Amino acid sequence: MTPVSYPQALLKQTHDYARERYIMILSDECEIVLRKIFETYSPKRVLEIGTAIGYSSSVMALISDCVIDTVEKDGERIAAAKELWTKLGVSERINAYHGDADGTLADIVEGKTYDFVFLDGAKSAYRRQLEFLEPHIEKGGIVLCDDVLYLGLVKGDGVPPHKHRTIVNNMRGFLNYLSQSGKYDSRVIDEANGIAVARKK
Ligand SMILES: C[S@@+](CC[C@H](N)C(=O)[O-])C[C@H]1O[C@@H](n2cnc3c(N)ncnc32)[C@H](O)[C@@H]1O
Repeated sequence: MTPVSYPQALLKQTHDYARERYIMILSDECEIVLRKIFETYSPKRVLEIGTAIGYSSSVMALISDCVIDTVEKDGERIAAAKELWTKLGVSERINAYHGDADGTLADIVEGKTYDFVFLDGAKSAYRRQLEFLEPHIEKGGIVLCDDVLYLGLVKGDGVPPHKHRTIVNNMRGFLNYLSQSGKYDSRVIDEANGIAVARKK
């Protein structure tokens, strides 16, 4: 049997802890896509919206020697993430920002560019956030977004149930922008809750 390294064992423990407690972390399918991107392109300057307890940022930091800026509005989750990064020995390469992405992004990204952006915070905000971030995403930079088909309601043009209408309409607008703006080569993977991958032209 191949021995499991300490970082991988701790990651698995964190993954299972999150799933058992319904703490939202990226889907297993999205993690596979994320890992492939990092193994292939080894991004160096990463921005993540939605840190949660630091699972996906740890995955990224363990594969590539990247520097990550990540923003999260929940202070307790940020604290848990920092503990995890310290145990994994990656904390010096991860800058955590506590606050609402809408209020903090401008300061976080000022004067910086990124070759990988992971949108995984408020689903309704994806398009607004992407348009704001565009000047900070390098040509050829990759944007990964989880949950873009939102319970399968985003597919087609049916009228969504009232309580999901805003998020579904916003997500349709976002996917339309990704595919029609001419700024990205993009595809949507119809697995889990939908995963979008785009490369900035
Ligand atoms: C799906 S989880 C992120 C999971 C994480 N990327 C991972 O895979 O380990 C989404 C996180 O985004 C945070 N969030 C939602 N809206 C936000 C906002 N407007 N600004 C900052 N964080 C936000 C939530 O508190 C939640 O922890």
